[in-house]
Amino acid sequence: MSAFNEERVLSVHHWTDKLFTFTTTRDPSLRFSNGHFTMIGLRVNDKPLLRAYSIVSANYEEHLEFLSIKVPNGPLTSRLQHIKVGDTVIVGRKPTGTLLIDYLLPGKRLYLLSTGTGLAPFMSIVRDPETYEKFDQVILVHGVRQVDELAYHDLLVEHLPNHEFLGELVTSKLRYYPTVTREAYKNMGRVTNLIENGKIFDDLSVPQIDPANDRVMICGSPAMLRDLKVMLEQRGFKEGNTSIPGDFVIERAFAEQ
Ligand code: A2P
Repeated sequence: MSAFNEERVLSVHHWTDKLFTFTTTRDPSLRFSNGHFTMIGLRVNDKPLLRAYSIVSANYEEHLEFLSIKVPNGPLTSRLQHIKVGDTVIVGRKPTGTLLIDYLLPGKRLYLLSTGTGLAPFMSIVRDPETYEKFDQVILVHGVRQVDELAYHDLLVEHLPNHEFLGELVTSKLRYYPTVTREAYKNMGRVTNLIENGKIFDDLSVPQIDPANDRVMICGSPAMLRDLKVMLEQRGFKEGNTSIPGDFVIERAFAEQ
């Protein structure tokens, strides 16, 4: 059996000239956990050209959704950004990754800290009812440069709280904290600075982050991961992985493609 499925593009949405989303059909045999990534791509000169992408859609949905940046000379995204409804993309049959709530120890509050396309795996996690069974409160932080890069803002603020099945859980447990660094916005600053100076905790009326109660997932640029990992370890958090659960887990947002 091939390592890939061929899927058909169902919709494409361009958030900005650098950021877009698309949905595809989903082979019914494809299984994944919310937070997983898989290889996706295009056939170029009859060869698969693939990169890792976190799955934005939840694992109970019939379609698949992905969030991508557009890198002008990126081998894949310079082509992928032009996909249209009806085109074919290839999707790896073996999703994997470390951003699973199973790899965290039990806790009260779950922080999902993201920058840029690092939001992608968390979109699937905040649509998983199990996330809300395991945690009293879920805080989703998305840091971007410009306001228009706040992908899924309206889904998180308007649609999800009114969702037929998830609405009640989301309304009572999910807090969404978008923050912007290079434009005026209601929340401003890097997620690292907002934790360091405590502003995010004041804004959300929650205590300072603490390994006794809090669990953290991080997805963003290598620099963002490095900085947050140091900050968490200084505060006594222990990193988890696919074999030993911990207080936090990290994964690089798969950009630069
Ligand atoms: P900044 O504008 O201060 O660089 P990018 O588009 O480069 O991936 O950045 C997405 C967001 O992540 C931006 O708001 C950026 O802030 C922020 N960012 C970049 N590096 C870090 C870091 N080391 N820690 C936290 N946030 C970061």
